[in-house]
Amino acid sequence: MGARTVAIVGAGLVGSGWAIVFARAGLAVRVYDPQKKIRDGFRGWAETALKELEAALLVDSAAETLARMSVFDTLEEALNGASYIQESVFERVDVKTEACLAIDTAMDPAAIVGSSSSGIPASAFTEGCANRARFMINHPVNPPHLVPVVELVPAPWTDPDCVAAVRELMNEVGQVPVSLTREVDGFVLNRLQGALLNEAWALYEEGYASIEDIDATVRDGLGLRWSFMGPFETIDLNAPGGIADYAERLGPLYFGMGNSRMDHPWPREVIARAEAERRVELDAGSLADRRAWRDSQLMKLAAFRQANNLKRSASS
Ligand SMILES: NC(=O)c1ccc[n+]([C@@H]2O[C@H](COP(=O)([O-])OP(=O)(O)OC[C@H]3O[C@@H](n4cnc5c(N)ncnc54)[C@H](O)[C@@H]3O)[C@@H](O)[C@H]2O)c1
Repeated sequence: MGARTVAIVGAGLVGSGWAIVFARAGLAVRVYDPQKKIRDGFRGWAETALKELEAALLVDSAAETLARMSVFDTLEEALNGASYIQESVFERVDVKTEACLAIDTAMDPAAIVGSSSSGIPASAFTEGCANRARFMINHPVNPPHLVPVVELVPAPWTDPDCVAAVRELMNEVGQVPVSLTREVDGFVLNRLQGALLNEAWALYEEGYASIEDIDATVRDGLGLRWSFMGPFETIDLNAPGGIADYAERLGPLYFGMGNSRMDHPWPREVIARAEAERRVELDAGSLADRRAWRDSQLMKLAAFRQANNLKRSASS
C-alpha cells in the first residue's frame, strides 16, 4: 500500500495502542482526539508505554518511535497527507456516523479508512460517505500493540482493493490480519468469544461449577494450547488420524451437548472441507511432529507461567 503516513482518529485505549503499532513499524503517525485532556496526555502515555516496550525488547528505540508521532488539535490537520486512517471513536452508531462523515469530507479520496469497531459493521455507519468504498472494519484486540490479530471486514460497498491494501499494511506493521468475506454481527473473534462466554454463563447459572473453576478450565486448560494454536489445529492434533478422525469420534458428543443450541450435527461436507484445508496447512504425515512441537511449546509456556506466578496457586 505504501502508507508512510497514518492518521489516528480517536486516541482512547485502542487508538493510542494503534499509534504505537504504526510508529514502531517506521510510519509517521498523526493523532487527533476531540478531548483536550486526551491530546495533552497522549505523549506522556506513549513515552511511558514505549520505554516499557523498549525494556522488553519489543521496540528498537523508544525515542525514535515517539519522534514519529504528532498530535493535532483538528481532524483536518491530522488527516493531512495520511494515506491510511484508523478510526477508534466510541462504539456507538451515531458517534461513528458523525466521525466518518467528518473524515469523509477531510480525507484524501485515495486514502483508506479502517474502523476499530468491535461489532458494529461498517455498513451501519458509512453509507452516507462519498468515499464509502474506501471504508471498512479493521478490528483489533486491546491493546493492539501487544495482541497482533486484526479482523478485516468489508461493507457491501467496500472496494476489494482497499481490503487487500489494508491486509498488506497490517502484515507490514506486524499485525496478523484475518479476512472476513462479508459482514456478520460480532465478526469472528467476538462470535468465538461469545460462544464460550454464553456457555460459561449457562454452566455457572445452572450451578455446575464456580466462576473460578470455569476460569481455571480455560486458564489452566484450554487456554494453554489456544495461546499458540486455534481450535481447528487443536482438534487436528487430538485424534490419531487428525481432524476428520476427531469429528468421527467426538462429533456425536458435541452434537449432544449443543443440541439445545444447534439444529443439526456437523455436516459431513463441512468436515471434509475443514479436513482438506487442514491438510494443506499440515500434511497427515506431519501430525505427530506437530504434536511434539505443540508439547514443547506447552513446556516452555508452563515454565514461563511458573516463573511469572501465573499458575493457579494450590491454596486458591
Ligand atoms: N477497549 C477494547 O477492548 C476494544 C477492543 C477492540 C476494539 N475496540 C473498539 O475501538 C473503538 C474505541 O474504543 P476505546 O476502548 O478506545 O474507547 P475510548 O473511550 O477509550 O476512546 C474513544 C475515543 O474516541 C474519541 N472520540 C469520540 N468522538 C470522536 C470523534 N467524533 N472524532 C474523533 N475522536 C472521537 C473520544 O474522545 C475518546 O478519546 C470502539 O469502536 C471499540 O469498540 C475496543
